[in-house]
Formats: sequence, C-alpha cells, structure tokens
Amino acid sequence: MSTITVELGERSYPIHIEAGILTNTDIITSNVASGRAIVVTNDVVSPLYLDILLKSLKGLNVSVITIPDGEQHKNLQQFEYISSQLLEQQAARDTTLIALGGGVIGDLTGFVAACFQRGMPFIQVPTTLLSQVDSSVGGKTAVNHPLGKNMIGAFYQPKSVFIDINTLKTLPDREFAAGMAEVIKYGIIYDEGFFQWLESHTEQLIQKSDEHLEYVIKRCCEIKAEIVSKDEREQGIRALLNLGHTFGHAIEAEQGYGNWLHGEAVACGTVIAAKAALQKGWMHESELQRIIQLMQAFDLPILAPNQMDYDVFMKHMQHDKKVLKGAIRFVIPQHIGKAVVTKDISQDSLRAILG
Ligand code: NAD
Ligand code: GLY
Repeated sequence: MSTITVELGERSYPIHIEAGILTNTDIITSNVASGRAIVVTNDVVSPLYLDILLKSLKGLNVSVITIPDGEQHKNLQQFEYISSQLLEQQAARDTTLIALGGGVIGDLTGFVAACFQRGMPFIQVPTTLLSQVDSSVGGKTAVNHPLGKNMIGAFYQPKSVFIDINTLKTLPDREFAAGMAEVIKYGIIYDEGFFQWLESHTEQLIQKSDEHLEYVIKRCCEIKAEIVSKDEREQGIRALLNLGHTFGHAIEAEQGYGNWLHGEAVACGTVIAAKAALQKGWMHESELQRIIQLMQAFDLPILAPNQMDYDVFMKHMQHDKKVLKGAIRFVIPQHIGKAVVTKDISQDSLRAILG
C-alpha cells in the first residue's frame, strides 16, 4: 500500500492507495472514529461496490443514503435530501460520512459534511479515475447552480482517502478518458517529465495496466498533496489546478450539466488555454501539438461545441471563481511543465481563439 499525506497541520490526512483496499477491514474501520458511519453513494456505484464496503465496515453501526447518478444531481435539492436523511437517521456530529463514488458523490457528500451540524467527519472512497487523481483530495466541496458550476460550496478536508485501483475495472471508457484529462493537466502545470512519461506510456494506460495506473494515481496525488499543503484556500499556486477549467466550466454550464463530462470540458479548455499561450508567444506550436495529440490519444475532445462562440464563453466566464476586481484570470501554460495565472489575455486574442 502507498500512503501520501496531505500536510495541513492538525487537519493533515492520509491518502491510501492499493488495489483491493476496499476489502481491508482494519484500515477502513479504524478511520471511523465514533463507530457510526453513513455511506452516501449513487444507484450506479451501489450495486458494484456497496456490499464490498459494507463488509469491511462490519461491526460498526452503518446505514446508507443512495441518490440518483449524474452531474445534474450535484445540486441543492440533493444536498437537502441527504441532510434530511441524516436528520431522520439521527446522525450526530461525530457520525462519519463516507462518500462512495466519483467526483459528484465526493463533492456533494463533502459539502453536506461541511454543513451538517456545522461539520462532521467524512471519508472519501473515490471510484473514478478523475476522483482518484483529483477531486477526492484537497477538500474542495460544492454543488452546482444553474448559473454556474460549483458555485455553492466550502473548503472542507476529509479525514482520509481510500483509493482502490480495482474499481477502475468497471469504469466506462469515456469516464476513464475524462479522468485522463485531469492527469494530463498535472503534467502541463507542474511536471514536464510526467507529461513525457504519459506520452510514452499511452498504450499501457489505454489498456488500463494496473502497474501504470498505480504510478499515475500516486504521482497525481503527490502533486496535488504538495500543492494543497502549500495553498489550501487557493490564494496562489492552487489556482494552477484549474488549468482548462475556466473555459471548461463555461462548456459544462452551456451544454447542460452531464452532457459534456467534466474531464471532457477540461480537455477542450486546456487546448484553448494552450492556444492562448501560443498567441502570447509563450508556447511553441510543437508543444500545442503534443498536448492535442495526448488528449486525442485518449479520445478527448479538443474543439468547443460549434454554437459556443466568444460571447457565449464570456457570458459564463464572468461567474468564474477566479474573477478578481471584475477581471477574468486565466491559467495559461508557459510551456509544458509550468503554468501561470494571468488576466493579460486580450479580447482580440480570445475572439480569435474562441470564434
Ligand atoms: P461522476 O462522479 O459523475 O462519475 C462518473 C460516472 O461513473 C457516474 O455515472 C458514476 O456513477 C460512474 N461510476 C463511478 N465509479 C464507477 C465505477 N468504479 N465503475 C463504473 N461506474 C462508475 O464524475 P467524475 O468524473 O468522477 O467527477 C466529476 C465531478 O468532479 C464534477 O462535478 C467536477 O466538478 C468534480 N471535480 C471536483 C474537484 C475537486 O477538487 N473537488 C476536482 C475535479 C472535478
Ligand atoms: N481541482 C482543483 C482543485 O482542487 O483545486
């Protein structure tokens, strides 16, 4: 088992990574402090992994809340539903919430945990590639609003994260690819060597080789843990993790949540950001092409939907959480391996890129 720590003083927590960890009763139960846990999951993940988790929680007082599957349910209605269930099931402030599922379940459960009785412990058990490499780590919790993605939320760290690589065996290919967009992101913003490694191991990753996946998940969690430990509340370096997200969130909101997968929108947004870098003279055409090729190797979209032009993007991007004093701030790669946050992307440049 590999363990990576997110260093946040007394709120530090471990990320445990191991194929089959869901069956490791000792380690999972020892993380439920009060002996009472409530698992939140959805109707797709539940038939696949709930029984395995419940077996590992045997001896504890455990109940389950199941919600419908999908990004369109990461909303205030489901927040209210889960909160009401917690009250009906007489959850207390020391009850542990366990998020079993992808980023939607993790973000929503984490937000409920942050708010219920002003905060209860929660554990992340991410089951998609995207949630294993990104959303389960770092304590960003939220729900969507029709006017903007992740607009209502809180920074609230989990007590621990359990990553079972075996869960990826049932993940649909399209969801796997969406996770790869966030993986590629880490290489572009932080680690050129990792980007190169991804380029030379594309085939093994498409084949979902355990050994290669484990390396990828560990490396992404290491990078994320390092960044979050330095800047938990996104006052600086953490903003780089939003590469492609300003454009991507606009696509998700415009297309209707769930129609473009989050990772697909991030892939397309990352290519747009790389084009802006090219226009600024930061990035070479050859680097843009490498980013496009790597995204395409995983069947990720690199072009925005036809009907989305400059005006449509701008309508959504005004709500971006990185807007400061009215100015949209973009994460733009300077080259593969390094990115910066800048508001200096001209309207002309954006018009040329977005159409
Ligand atoms: P998701 O949670 O919708 O999961 C994708 C699909 O896979 C769903 O249908 C889900 O039920 C299904 N699924 C999950 N695990 C499975 C498994 N092992 N086998 C088969 N099917 C499985 O989507 P996601 O890509 O995991 O997460 C996207 C969400 O994460 C977005 O809402 C995004 O905003 C959020 N996000 C948050 C952060 C953060 O820092 N908090 C970072 C990145 C993304
Ligand atoms: N996924 C962006 C972040 O955690 O900051």
